[in-house]
Amino acid sequence: MSIRFSLKIAGILFFLFGSSIDSISQSKVILYLDSAKHKISRHIYGHFAEHLGRCIYDGFWVEEGSKIPNQGRIRLDVVDALKELDIPNLRWPGGCFADEYHWKDGIGPRDQRPTMINTNWGGVTEDNSFGTHEFFQLCEMLETEPVVVGNMGSGTIQEMSQWVEYLNSDNVSPMTDLRKENGRTDPFDIKYFGVGNENWGCGGNMTPEYYADQVRRYSTFLENYGDNQLYKIACGANRANYNWTEVLMSKRKRKTFQGLSLHYYTTRIKAVGRERGHAIEFDEQEWFNTFSNTMVMDELISKHGAIMDKYDPEKEVGLIVDEWGTWWEVEEGTNPRFLYQQNTIRDALVASVNLNIFNNHADRVHMANIAQTVNVLQAMVLTQGAQIVRTPSFYTFKMYKVHHDATLIPSDVKSAQYAYNGEALDAIHTSASLNKEGQAHISLCNLDPKMNQKVTCIFPGIQKTVDLKGQSISSTEINAFNDFGQPEKINIQAFSDFKSKGNEITINMPPMSIVMLELTPKK
Ligand code: AHR
Repeated sequence: MSIRFSLKIAGILFFLFGSSIDSISQSKVILYLDSAKHKISRHIYGHFAEHLGRCIYDGFWVEEGSKIPNQGRIRLDVVDALKELDIPNLRWPGGCFADEYHWKDGIGPRDQRPTMINTNWGGVTEDNSFGTHEFFQLCEMLETEPVVVGNMGSGTIQEMSQWVEYLNSDNVSPMTDLRKENGRTDPFDIKYFGVGNENWGCGGNMTPEYYADQVRRYSTFLENYGDNQLYKIACGANRANYNWTEVLMSKRKRKTFQGLSLHYYTTRIKAVGRERGHAIEFDEQEWFNTFSNTMVMDELISKHGAIMDKYDPEKEVGLIVDEWGTWWEVEEGTNPRFLYQQNTIRDALVASVNLNIFNNHADRVHMANIAQTVNVLQAMVLTQGAQIVRTPSFYTFKMYKVHHDATLIPSDVKSAQYAYNGEALDAIHTSASLNKEGQAHISLCNLDPKMNQKVTCIFPGIQKTVDLKGQSISSTEINAFNDFGQPEKINIQAFSDFKSKGNEITINMPPMSIVMLELTPKK
C-alpha cells in the first residue's frame, strides 16, 4: 500500500471514529475598538528566499532556454502566485548562505561569474547566475521590497559597505560605475539591510559581546545615500537566548541598528521515533505537540520584548522575526539538505497562530519572514517540473492580507480548552484589525481537530455590526494537503455559519479551521 493511500485511510478513520463533530465548546472574544492604535505593519507578512535547495534554482530561477514560461529566467507562475499574496518584502540571499556569499561574484556577465560551493546546503555548486541584479528584477516583478542580508561571518567591512554603495549611491564612484556597466543607472534605493545572519551559529559562532561590537563597527560604514535612510537589522537571538538580546540592546549605540532579529521554528515536536516529525505522516499527539510548540512564539516575543523595553521604552527598535515556520523531515527521496517538505492543514493553522501572535505584538514586531517562499520548509508554493501547487499556508497568507497596514484591535480571549492525553491548550486564537474604510476583520483559528467551537465576539460600545461576510480554511482530515495534478483539498471557502445580534456575533467554527470575519461596526 502506498504511503499516500494509507494516509488517506488514516484520515478517514480519524474522521469516522476519532472525531466528535457534534460536540461544541464555547469561547468568548472581547474586542476593544476604542483602544485600536497600533498599526500592523504589512512587513509582518514578509517572505524569505535563500540559496538553499530548490528555492532560487528550480524555484524562482529556471535553466537558460527552459520551456517553463519565464521572463529573463524568472518563473512566471511563481511570480503570479506570490502576487496574489501582495508580498510586502523578500529577504535574500540567506540565511546561513548570506555569511559565505560574496556579492561581487554575482554581478557582471553570467558566463564570467565564478562558482562556489554552497557548504551549508548540500555542498552543491553555486553558479552565481542569480545575483544582485536578478534579485532586484524579481522584486520589481513581485512589486515587493527587497531585504538584503550582508556577509559579516566571512566577509569584510569594505565588502559590505561597497555593496550598500553599489545599491544606493548616486554619486560618481568605482561602485556606481560598476553598477552602470552592469546595466543599472539609477540606484536601487534599498531600505532594509541585515548585518549578518545567525552570527551566534553558522554566521561565525560569535559570542554576543563580540557580535555587539562588530555590528557597531560594520554598521558605521553602511552609509545613507541621498534621502534614503537604511533600516539596519542586527542579528538577534535564537529561540530563548535572552542573554543575546540583553547584550545587544545594552551595547547598542543609537543608529547602529533599527531592528533586532529573532529566529524560532516550530520543530522538535517530540514526534515518536523521529527527530523532527514528518510533514504529512503524523497523529493527533504530534498535532497537539506542534501547537504547544508554536505557542512558544508568544512567550519569546513577550520576554525578548520586555528586555528591549528596558533599553528602548519608546519601542523604536523593531523585533524582526526574520525566520519562522514549520521545519519537518524532508520528503522521502529528496536531498536531506534541501529541506523540501509538504504542507498540510496543520501548517495553515501554524501560520494562522503565528500571524495572530505577530499582529497582537504589532507595537514591537515590525517585520517577520516565513521560511521559505518556494520549495523549502513552510513554503507558499511548491514546484515540480512545469507544475505548481499553492500550499495550505499560501491560503492563510492570502486570507490575512486584510490585516496589512490595518490598525490592531486589542482583544481579550477566554478560550475553551483543547485537551489531549492529559494536557490542554487554548483552542481559539485570534487577532483583529480595523482598516481605513472602517471595516473590522477578525481572524479566528480553532486548533481542536475534532470539536466545533462556538465563539462569541463582543464589541463593547457598539450598537450593531453590519455587512457581515465570512471566509474559512478547513479540512476533515488532519493531514490533508494540496498535491501536484490533483484538485486542491485546502483553499479559501465562503463561510456563513455565524449569527449577529446587537454588538455580538456568534460563530460556529468547524474543527481545525481558520475563519475570517469582515464587518462594519456601528456606534
Ligand atoms: O531557513 C533555513 C536556515 O535556518 C537558515 O539558513 C538559517 O538562518 C536557519 O538556521
